[in-house]
Amino acid sequence: AEALRIGIAGLGTVGASVARVLSEKAAELTRQCGREIVVAAVSARDRSRNRGVDLGGAKWFDDPAELARNADIDVFVELIGGDDGPAHNCVKAALEAGRHVVTANKALLARHGIALAEIAERKGVLLNYEAAVAGGIPVIKTMREAMAGNSVSRVFGILNGTCNYILTRMEAEGLSFDACLKDAQRLGYAEADPTFDIEGHDTAHKLAILTSLAFGCKISADDIYMEGISNISQADVRAAGELGYRIKLLGVAQATESGIEQRVHPTMVPTASVIAQVHGVTNAVAIETDILGELLLSGPGAGGNATASAVVGDIADIAKSRPGFQHGPVFGRPARELKPYKRAR
Ligand code: NDP
Ligand code: HSE
Repeated sequence: AEALRIGIAGLGTVGASVARVLSEKAAELTRQCGREIVVAAVSARDRSRNRGVDLGGAKWFDDPAELARNADIDVFVELIGGDDGPAHNCVKAALEAGRHVVTANKALLARHGIALAEIAERKGVLLNYEAAVAGGIPVIKTMREAMAGNSVSRVFGILNGTCNYILTRMEAEGLSFDACLKDAQRLGYAEADPTFDIEGHDTAHKLAILTSLAFGCKISADDIYMEGISNISQADVRAAGELGYRIKLLGVAQATESGIEQRVHPTMVPTASVIAQVHGVTNAVAIETDILGELLLSGPGAGGNATASAVVGDIADIAKSRPGFQHGPVFGRPARELKPYKRAR
């Protein structure tokens, strides 16, 4: 099959990691997808900045919207961020031009997701956004593809890695809120404006996306009751611990008799509960349904590698989405030798 040509707009924490994974894992991806994935074009603000990654012969665009419309690409990957401005313009331009789009931008989807999905449907292209919720955890695919027929009664979880990282270190190491936030920024977990993390907006954006998938309602972060963690002090964390609790920032959406309720706020969870064992940048999503029962997914929720894993997964899905493609090495593409197990005596 012909190579899949992608354009990446945004080469920061996530964009540079995606480019690196695509380059380092090129052979593995070609085997898994049955075709090559080529980074044909890139865009960011500062062309002279060293991204620590080999961008090969990728063509540079100063304007991401121009890249989005470029006829030489099949997939536009938006990793700029922001609910409006360049990210919105270029995603819209890419879809209108008939390009598939992959994005990690939950702020954009929470605000314009429905309109963008409508363009994608009209144009017959895919809009993939696995990385937009809970970083590397494949929760979107799980809800969209693996839970058909289930009626969800509640979805809740720890959806922001920065906040969980801050709360974990405040408790475990007695550090100040500000010191932990600085580390989360240094590690690439926080949003460009960390207010979005610590005041709960980011959790609300992700919850709005989960709510729409879980309950089939419109994406609306504006309707979410929201409280962040910026007022949580060392004294609060210690007091919760003395009472047998941990403080976690939770996003909760549940069906009630009068409609779907959505809320984001710090919550005291019993120290022995499963959700209390979710530490650091790890996220967790619990989904309660009638057929399946309770499902709990947990894993790395932020950072370059975790997010790149989800973005690359979305790109690979597009590479595989062609008639007749059979998944996996089972069907004709074995890559490794099997070794008989010998029991130690
Ligand atoms: P960064 O701030 O690290 O990177 C943003 C990139 O966008 C930079 O390369 C920047 O260019 C580029 N950019 C900004 N404005 C423009 C513009 N007008 N035209 C072209 N390029 C532009 O952000 P992240 O990589 O952390 O996040 C990217 C997206 O992924 C966001 O939507 C974020 O919410 C989401 N996300 C992030 C996660 C994380 O852990 N960091 C996890 C999950 C999702 P330059 O480098 O030249 O300044
Ligand atoms: N700032 C976000 C977080 C990135 O900390 O969870 C992942 O969406």
